[in-house]
Amino acid sequence: MKSLKPFAVFFIIILTALPLPGFAQVSGEFSLPQNTRRNVRSRSLPLKVVQLTEPNLAGNVSLEKALAERRSVREFNEKKLSYKQIGQLAWAGQGITDTNRGFRTAPSAGAVYPLTLYIATDEGIFTYNPQEHTLQQFVQGGISNQLAKAAFSQNAVADAPCNIIIAGSVRKLVMKYQNAARRYMFLEAGHVAQNILLESVSLDLGAVPIGVFNLDAARRICRMQRDMEPLYIIPVGYPAEKSATPKQEAKRTSPGGNAFGLKTVVLIVASKNFNEMELLQTQKAIADTGINTLIASSKTGVIMGMSGRRTHADMSIDKINVDDFEAIVFIGGPGAQEYFFNPTVERIIKQADEKNIIIGAISIAPALLARAGILNGHNVAAAPSQKSFLETAGAKFTGSFIEKDGNIITAARSQDAVSFGKTIANAVKPPSPNTNPLMQYRQQQINQQQQMNQQNQMYQQLFNP
Ligand SMILES: Cc1cc2nc3c(=O)[nH]c(=O)nc-3n(C[C@H](O)[C@H](O)[C@H](O)COP(=O)(O)O)c2cc1C
Repeated sequence: MKSLKPFAVFFIIILTALPLPGFAQVSGEFSLPQNTRRNVRSRSLPLKVVQLTEPNLAGNVSLEKALAERRSVREFNEKKLSYKQIGQLAWAGQGITDTNRGFRTAPSAGAVYPLTLYIATDEGIFTYNPQEHTLQQFVQGGISNQLAKAAFSQNAVADAPCNIIIAGSVRKLVMKYQNAARRYMFLEAGHVAQNILLESVSLDLGAVPIGVFNLDAARRICRMQRDMEPLYIIPVGYPAEKSATPKQEAKRTSPGGNAFGLKTVVLIVASKNFNEMELLQTQKAIADTGINTLIASSKTGVIMGMSGRRTHADMSIDKINVDDFEAIVFIGGPGAQEYFFNPTVERIIKQADEKNIIIGAISIAPALLARAGILNGHNVAAAPSQKSFLETAGAKFTGSFIEKDGNIITAARSQDAVSFGKTIANAVKPPSPNTNPLMQYRQQQINQQQQMNQQNQMYQQLFNP
């Protein structure tokens, strides 16, 4: 062993003296040798390190002006962003402003900083390193089309020259904050997102915060580590002055014209004591045909049904724009009474009916349609307990299990949820999933989303016993 020692010392001297092959600094970019077989580099050895220029601390737009002018921008022209602009945006989100303590532009519970910015351009995917103010590239090539599909074909993601994905690792917070950790991570993501949105205004750029996307797909597309969760996608670019160019149209993946880019049915449930069987079976029957489904309630996040089963409400009923949906479906259970005198629900039902959008209601929920005054003269199936009330409202209570009368589809019992869902899906008439690759892809996404929702519920139960 003793005789090897001089050789070891010799090798160490040689290795430290030699520059790494191919490691060169070119106008602020450090290029590492390209991996010829794979376009993904492990996180410890980036493909490229971009040293960003110092952030500008004296922009021309006042904070008040930025606040007043910020508006979600979803259409961009094709002009790319420079590293300088991307660096400024990354700094606004996560830049270090107190070098002694490492504190950043956005607050963080306990200064734990669980968030990472992933930046996707047509060049590749980068992560922002706040300590060094660098971008570290670990994937070669654009992913915007894939990411747009993960965001249910939202064109803003496909068209933006830069998507900033705010991702977080709850693990970093759990030790310190236990069951508040997840909430703190989401709150922090909001701070970071707002900083980026305001910086976009200051740089004369447009941006939109996107929360509607398949978490699992986005995580895979961005090659995130297992503990990372994508929380927000922020497409940023130069706002389009007119409608999309033909190139952008060709890039677009969605045939739909609504906010979600695909045929979407919204299921409205009470914030508690809804009938789980009615919800899950109706939703599955619709989703199985490749139609996008969302759950809306008076409360978003985790909601609990009449048998104690939890589900996730994607959106608030206040945010429902009936034009975004092919069908609006009301789920029963005792909790549905919450909406009996709810002006938002009444507005949704009336607007949907005026626009001839399909309206579904099961078991006691047809009473909501009666209260909104749209059942006069219509054949209706509903729970027998609703018969006299429905008849007083002018409806024809037929005693059938399913009724389709014009745009109104009703069902009598929880056991009818599957046929109810299928009747709604047929009325929406999706293209056949067997022949449309986008629909096949969507089906996979729906399944993944459902799995993710289940995982999220388990997570919630774990941390909120
Ligand atoms: C949590 C969250 C999620 C959002 N998700 C989306 C989205 O997926 N797609 C989209 O186009 N806009 C999304 N938005 C943007 C809102 O639609 C937008 O902020 C709202 O319409 C108000 O318009 P403004 O941003 O111009 O003030 C989201 C906003 C928030 C706060």
